[in-house]
Amino acid sequence: MRHRLLVPGAVALSLVLAVPASAADFTPGAPGVGDTYYPESGNGGYDVSHYDLRLKYQPKTDLLQGTATLLATTTQDLSRFNLDFALKVSEIRVNGKKARFATSGKHELEVTPATPLEKGKQISVVVRYADKPSQVKIDNYSAWARTPDGGVVAQEPDAAVWWFPSNDHPTDKATYDVSVAVPDGTQALSNGVLASQSSKLGWTRYNWRSDKPQATYLTTLAVGKFDITTDTTANGLPVINAVSKDLGANEGSARASIARTAEATEWLESVFGPYPFNAVGGYVPNVPAHYALETQTRPFYGKKAFDRGTNVSVVVHELAHQWYGDSVSLKDWKDIWINEGFAAYSQWLWSEKEGEGTAQQLADYVYAQHPADDPFWKVRPGNPGAENQFDDAVYDRGALALQALRNKVGDKVFFGILKSWPTEHRYGNASVADFVKFAGKKSGTSLDGFFDTWLFEPTRPAAGAAGRTLGVRHTAVAEPKSWRQIAAATHGVHGVHGH
Ligand code: TRP
Ligand code: ZN
Repeated sequence: MRHRLLVPGAVALSLVLAVPASAADFTPGAPGVGDTYYPESGNGGYDVSHYDLRLKYQPKTDLLQGTATLLATTTQDLSRFNLDFALKVSEIRVNGKKARFATSGKHELEVTPATPLEKGKQISVVVRYADKPSQVKIDNYSAWARTPDGGVVAQEPDAAVWWFPSNDHPTDKATYDVSVAVPDGTQALSNGVLASQSSKLGWTRYNWRSDKPQATYLTTLAVGKFDITTDTTANGLPVINAVSKDLGANEGSARASIARTAEATEWLESVFGPYPFNAVGGYVPNVPAHYALETQTRPFYGKKAFDRGTNVSVVVHELAHQWYGDSVSLKDWKDIWINEGFAAYSQWLWSEKEGEGTAQQLADYVYAQHPADDPFWKVRPGNPGAENQFDDAVYDRGALALQALRNKVGDKVFFGILKSWPTEHRYGNASVADFVKFAGKKSGTSLDGFFDTWLFEPTRPAAGAAGRTLGVRHTAVAEPKSWRQIAAATHGVHGVHGH
């Protein structure tokens, strides 16, 4: 307890006089928000409203230097509070005054301000730091990927601690200004719009702005040499796409896929309602990954996502997350179905629209693919466990549950739900239980038992459970045309990196 606040007598007395609470009521903020799977994620005692990140990255040496300014509001009387961060810090100031700090746990930074912080006040926290993020390992792992010409950070559920101090949990969303200086001829990409760009003494600084609530893991940075295309959609939304100049044989397929971004966004708006953010786009850095991530306004696509040619399905998946996952975020990581079930189902709907297999055919196929004794059915999409958070079943059984819902309540109610959920929960957080209640209300019947069968039972639902027959016989169901692309977009993410 070396860092317990020691208030000198006189200061303690004046605090007693100034506020009715005694100094003893000022307690440390919790080191986590209480997430079921990741108890150390996020922190208690304050709420961040804005991150201003002013960074400089040298690709040659992997040196990242930064000053982060966090604007927050305290939610309790605080003697000290934690930030989540793994890089080396040189100075922290709270409300302009130097604070003491110490590290603990896997990525905790304990900050003790010069004077305790009263509940309900706005505070500023300035953190100066410098480190080589790809060399900083937690459990032998770094989320910062070096590329031949730069670096990329795009990971789930943990990414932020490798590049900025934060309250690292989706329940504390904030707006962002991300300003990054990189050597001339190199670009820095982040979320939102490029507010400005300037060059001086061999360094070019890019100022990005994302002005709607954004979760820490959805905040991304890519440094490298990119071909950047900018455009606006028919509705006037800025589109910024970027493809590494270094993709080799995948360049064409990568470009051709993310070139469909505006079109896919327009179609998704017809299903989910108005697009929630200030820009859209995507980027493909030279990272040898096959997965993609729904980083806000600008999904990340690993270059291997395009090994087998164009994949528009993965673009639809990541853009669907802008509504399901990004605008409406999960409350707890156990609620991952709120993100992945819907993003996966959007691929089924796209397939249906494109005439490459209806959602029902895809549901029949998934059901038939997995006999009752397949371990696939042991994973509960409604609470899969940290080890299975991105298991194929979260996606496939997760989407199957939505097709079952569609069959149960009918198209009119179902599509009404798909559109009203992101509208009514915009920029907020929600749980699986919240969705079950919401769908029940919209359909006029309790769906608790129904969702228990489809999301929570560790067994294959009876074939008739969806109100119609699902994939009667294993061999009788043909593979829909879209299946390979759908599966390529989402399968095998599980195990990309363990916690
Ligand atoms: N959310 C991503 C998607 O479905 C998948 C994902 C899970 C991921 N864990 C990851 C991507 C780690 C990158 C890194 O689109
Ligand atoms: Zn997804």
